[in-house]
Amino acid sequence: MATSIDVRRSLVPRCTVRWTPFPRGVPPHAGMPSRGVVSSLASRLSQPSFALLVPTELMDTFQYKGGELYCEDVRVADLAAKYGTPLFVYSQAKFLHEFNAIKTAFAEVDPVLCYSVKANSNLSLLKVLNEAGSSFDVVSGGELYRVKHAGADTTRVVFAGVGKTDEEIRFGLESNILMFNVESEAELDAIAAVAKSMNRVAPVALRLNPDIDAKTHAKTTTGKKGNKFGMDIERHNQLADKVLSIPNLELRGIHMHLGSPILTTDPYEAAARKALEVVTELRSKGHKTNWINLGGGFGLSYRGQEAPPASEYAKVILPYVKQAECRLALEPGRSICGNAAILVSQVIYTKREGGKLFVIQDAAMNDLVRPAMYDSFHRIWPVAPRVAPPVDYEGPVDGCEATDIVGPICESGDYLAKGRALPEVHRGELLSTFSAGAYGMAMSSNYNSRPRAAEVLVSGKDVRVIRKRESLEDLIALERNL
Ligand code: LLP
Repeated sequence: MATSIDVRRSLVPRCTVRWTPFPRGVPPHAGMPSRGVVSSLASRLSQPSFALLVPTELMDTFQYKGGELYCEDVRVADLAAKYGTPLFVYSQAKFLHEFNAIKTAFAEVDPVLCYSVKANSNLSLLKVLNEAGSSFDVVSGGELYRVKHAGADTTRVVFAGVGKTDEEIRFGLESNILMFNVESEAELDAIAAVAKSMNRVAPVALRLNPDIDAKTHAKTTTGKKGNKFGMDIERHNQLADKVLSIPNLELRGIHMHLGSPILTTDPYEAAARKALEVVTELRSKGHKTNWINLGGGFGLSYRGQEAPPASEYAKVILPYVKQAECRLALEPGRSICGNAAILVSQVIYTKREGGKLFVIQDAAMNDLVRPAMYDSFHRIWPVAPRVAPPVDYEGPVDGCEATDIVGPICESGDYLAKGRALPEVHRGELLSTFSAGAYGMAMSSNYNSRPRAAEVLVSGKDVRVIRKRESLEDLIALERNL
């Protein structure tokens, strides 16, 4: 069992060994953290042990210890008892680990890492990242307001989005942002007009659509011709000439974002190559283009270890950036926060109807819309399971039954998983939905007049509430009686 975790050879030198006291099986994301070296592992793996080989780049701070789920040094069950459910539980160590992994991977070119606020915009998390040296990618006046509130240095902030209003452009200019990622000629005109009215010169990067298929979900692919994002890459000369002809605009560079999440590095290599070509050509025509921004979209391991580590993306991107002699900006979101949180829920009922087993629990599509919206996969397992978590969550698991894990919302689309192997659970038991840190709370809503979940941030033994659970009063606070 222990060896069934696929560890890529190239990663082995960066591995740690973790042990779990789980009596049955080998949970892939579980273990009593106790560091060892790879060389000591081989003999142990040959024993019927519970050893796990986990590359440090995939470090997981949500661990089963003694058959119970912990976030860092805190029992998840204690958090649920104190703060209620549904509850987003964040691990600060994981957050910082992933940010630092990207920083280290790209260190050679000293990039500006603009954490993509849309993935998770909680102020405390933004503050943690700000203190770690992150900058920010914002797509609205609201996000810019948030990062300012978190203490960000706005001169390193990039502002993307296909529909920036004049008001948002003005806010960006007042905040002295690094650059607007401009998505259309009409937007260039609008930015120029606002800048002129403020007697300013607006820094811009051309968001180019490179027509690269990132092979991700149709709703999250952005770099193919026909998507609403950016401007056709073939038009780069004409667009750069236009910027040059407007005194209130300054061309800083080019921007491309291919989609999200992207589980292979090839699309990035293709984009970086195109970026180098464009920059070289623009410079030969006298344009100043000192920045290449390759957006975000790095993969996340929702299932196991399917996402390449940051170093693999760096390997294909860096040579082109160095050759272009440009500054590099990146906009990672999901890969930083995705596996830094779980969504804890409580089973309300179970029932068997129509030949199916349903577990109805208190987290719903208003808390985590991704399964309903993209059919996305999130690992789900009890917080104190009767069966050790499997290596493969997608197939059948001994001692488990195919279960639809659904929420209370009045839509058939309200599920977190369908036909998923789950051990027996009863009313009141807790479930953990993993990889809930990105596009979870950020996309949550009050649908069915459900107050939004609380969020807590764990660091070692410390726990901080970083967003209170909404109350019934909060639900109606902004409404006025006619
Ligand atoms: N930069 C731009 C221009 C973007 O549009 C996005 C994501 C990012 C950066 C950050 O991508 P990330 O590193 O987080 O993958 N709600 C969907 C994902 C939508 C992504 C939108 N744009 C989901 O839950 O999968």
